[in-house]
Amino acid sequence: MNIQWYPGHMTKAKRAMKEDIKLIDLIIELVDARVPLASRNPDIDELGKGKARLILLNKSDLASERMNEAWTAWFQKQGCFVVKVNARNGSGLKQINGVVQEACKEKIERDRRRGILNRPVRAMVVGIPNVGKSTFINSFAGKACTKTGNKPGVTKGNQWIRLNKTLELLDTPGILWPKFEDQRVGLLLAFIGSINDEILNKDELAVELIRFMMKHYPKNLTERYSVPEEEKKLDEWTEEELLAHIAKIRGCLMKGGQPDYEKAALLVIDDFRSGKLGRVTLEFPPEEKEQREHEENK
Ligand code: G4P
Repeated sequence: MNIQWYPGHMTKAKRAMKEDIKLIDLIIELVDARVPLASRNPDIDELGKGKARLILLNKSDLASERMNEAWTAWFQKQGCFVVKVNARNGSGLKQINGVVQEACKEKIERDRRRGILNRPVRAMVVGIPNVGKSTFINSFAGKACTKTGNKPGVTKGNQWIRLNKTLELLDTPGILWPKFEDQRVGLLLAFIGSINDEILNKDELAVELIRFMMKHYPKNLTERYSVPEEEKKLDEWTEEELLAHIAKIRGCLMKGGQPDYEKAALLVIDDFRSGKLGRVTLEFPPEEKEQREHEENK
């Protein structure tokens, strides 16, 4: 599948973000816990040089808990602070203030030495589209916050949201563009719905998703779609046969009783995106990946 991405206004956005980043102490980067690398733009490392970094593994409710832990450890190894969150229901958000203080310890200490007391940490939320930035800002800032006004950011219209005595957020999130280094990244972003569905072939996408699930999360697949393994083991099915089976058991049929592949494909994709296929992480940290590949080649 050939996935194309046209990042409009990329250069302009990058320039604006560079200016905004000058104003802040801490970058709060949201990533999608199901695809923690594919949902980042690696340029943020360059843009955020010298700033404290907090990674929020958002949508952690949709990702495998074991992998959430593994990714947390991996990001920590890269020098980032990490909190697992669910911006939609607010879980994990309470931990953030403490971690921010920890992440900005040096700045706070520097301020103190200069006799500046209680200057809030200034932070900016960044992430690729659909990763949950607005949901996060709404639930984290909530109603309690007050816009401090009169302290303009560089980009016109920017304001600071005072969350509490110790933390201020730039009110507009920085939108990063995903980086398509290879088709794999495009595919992962398509699975999670971060690429415009119109440009994708749903049947192919569902087949790819089924292929991934067969390999890494077979049980989720067989249970959700009652795959009769007593008749034929899962690895003996082709992805297309499975899609036909799903169409049949879910009543996605055309007039003559033929499977409606497109409808079944949509159903599978929807099931995955809404978490009905279980908590699924699509990308593995390097060590885990090596181990899985090793086991495959045994
Ligand atoms: P953005 O600003 O980064 O573009 O993302 P936005 O907040 O609009 O969130 C994109 C979608 O992801 C929204 O769903 C939102 O509810 C959902 N979302 C955000 N955080 C989480 C999370 O931690 N867990 C889960 N399960 N979902 C999350 P939507 O379907 O587009 O809208 P709606 O149905 O919530 O109205």
